[in-house]
Amino acid sequence: MSTNPICEMLGIKYPVIQGGMAWIADAELAAAVSNAGGLGLIAAMNSNGEQLREQIKKAKELTDKPFGVNLMLMSPYIDEAVSAVCEEGVKVVTTGAGNPAKYMEQLKSAGVKVICVVASVALAVMVERMGASAVVAEGCESGGHVGDTTTMALVPQVVDAVNIPVIAAGGIADGRGMAAAFMLGAQAVQMGTRFLTAKECNVHPNYKEKVLKAKDRDTIVTGKSLGHPVRALKNRMTRDFQAKELDPATTPGELEKMGAGALRRAAIEGDVKTGSCMCGQIAGLVNSEDSCEEIITGICRDACALLGRSLEE
Ligand SMILES: Cc1cc2nc3c(=O)[nH]c(=O)nc-3n(C[C@H](O)[C@H](O)[C@H](O)COP(=O)(O)O)c2cc1C
Repeated sequence: MSTNPICEMLGIKYPVIQGGMAWIADAELAAAVSNAGGLGLIAAMNSNGEQLREQIKKAKELTDKPFGVNLMLMSPYIDEAVSAVCEEGVKVVTTGAGNPAKYMEQLKSAGVKVICVVASVALAVMVERMGASAVVAEGCESGGHVGDTTTMALVPQVVDAVNIPVIAAGGIADGRGMAAAFMLGAQAVQMGTRFLTAKECNVHPNYKEKVLKAKDRDTIVTGKSLGHPVRALKNRMTRDFQAKELDPATTPGELEKMGAGALRRAAIEGDVKTGSCMCGQIAGLVNSEDSCEEIITGICRDACALLGRSLEE
């Protein structure tokens, strides 16, 4: 697959990227994905420079393949995180939750490829002008923070609007989804939900089990009124949050407080009742715990068979 532009750009074998997932996408998951031929990403989330550096060093011990870092631009430690990425020689970052303009020059002059996660055509065009190497067009089926356009509608519109490669994300978990993304013009896929149940994923077993048991309509989006909607599995947390959100007496501050620490509670402590189990709509299709290698080779093999061609073209 070396002539696939994303594979060539990133030095990877398969055009499959593991999405950054706060509290979940650690060095072990990233290294396992990279060892399997995809691109693993360490989620920087709110880590300070030292914490991120530790994860990068750990990933380097676990793999000699390329891996990247997902930068959360709204992190209070974003300056330190960007410096850590540049100094540790990380070759690629994905950016989410904000505008990467301030860091573009620093990253690019350190030889870091910048891939921006976008939920709209306007943002895709803007980051291309800023010098992004590729975009991840992420539809609202996805887990975590979401926009409001579906993958099916967003990907071809982004493909038509930019000249850089487009990676499709949101609702992709098998070869059919990957083949569909390629038909829409994407040149790679990014998956989060599918990797939540990977054998090498260290998310709490309670969370993993909830994803494995989820059906098609088991996720819900809350937080629209705050301007940052989040998709998660329905549970007591989302029910309470939704009730509060619909109550005109609730202040934004109260809602922010309810959401704070909720993903950590579910992913690390295993509290899947009052924690937030962020997860995409495709969870209903994710029914087995597989290794990253099984996931990546399986999805690429099936996509190739459906497309009747390799993923290089
Ligand atoms: C639990 C969870 C946490 C996530 N955290 C982040 C994050 O920290 N940064 C980010 O850019 N995207 C984050 N995402 C989005 C993923 O990187 C990916 O784009 C998305 O999961 C793709 O959609 P899918 O879940 O349908 O595969 C998260 C997704 C999930 C499921």
